[in-house]
Amino acid sequence: MTQVERRAVLDATLSAGAKTAYLIDEPLAAAIGAKLPIASASGNMIMDIGGGSAEAAVISLGGVVTHKSVRVAGNKVDEAIIAYMKRRHNLLIGETTAEEVKIRIGSATVLAPEEAMEVKGRDVVTGLPRAMAITSTEITEAIRSVLLQIVGAARGVLEQTPPELASDIIDKGIVMSGGTSLLRNLDRLMTELTGVPCHVADEPLLCVVRGTGVAIENLDLYKKSVTRR
Ligand SMILES: Nc1ncnc2c1ncn2[C@@H]1O[C@H](COP(=O)(O)OP(=O)(O)O)[C@@H](O)[C@H]1O
Ligand SMILES: [Mg+2]
Repeated sequence: MTQVERRAVLDATLSAGAKTAYLIDEPLAAAIGAKLPIASASGNMIMDIGGGSAEAAVISLGGVVTHKSVRVAGNKVDEAIIAYMKRRHNLLIGETTAEEVKIRIGSATVLAPEEAMEVKGRDVVTGLPRAMAITSTEITEAIRSVLLQIVGAARGVLEQTPPELASDIIDKGIVMSGGTSLLRNLDRLMTELTGVPCHVADEPLLCVVRGTGVAIENLDLYKKSVTRR
């Protein structure tokens, strides 16, 4: 968020009746929720990939050192599946179907053995409903360029990270959180394309909300990491 957006969120919260309002950077909350030792002097890297955006951040001494955010994440993966089905198979499918395909047979790297499922939609040419089988290999191809943009955010952060902290990250790896980190083999693709081992946190969908809870319940410990108003 910009400074203006930060002020607006704090003001809105206070005028809604809160006595005090606090802000925490989302990657920091994700890192706390993923149980990274954020207060330590060494570097820790978190990659939070949600629906609307993917954020990569290196954290040290309780603060964000380098950070990159792209507005490319799960929703763009779904859109890529919709576009592929239309372009390659003349089949119009909805967002819910695309998300279902992604979760059932989607994979960041080619699955062996290949998996398949039936997809229903509307034929572009006849305008009539149609069902067809689609394979995991096709979905991997359809979502490849979106995934490369997401991985690009991690690479961007690594490139800006001071060498001392970068060396910590090579040792400890990158921890992934957010719903899209559950996409099959995205951790493997990230590892392959960044050269740094990547792991998915426990319960990645809950890291941000858990981390926020931990921070608000231990404000003394995390006061350096939150903004108060
Ligand atoms: N098992 C899964 N495989 C792939 N993507 C998933 C899976 N579960 C959830 N998602 C995706 O995760 C995204 C939501 O993640 P979340 O971290 O809750 O996002 P946000 O923080 O932006 O609300 C959606 O795009 C959803 O399709
Ligand atoms: Mg999120």
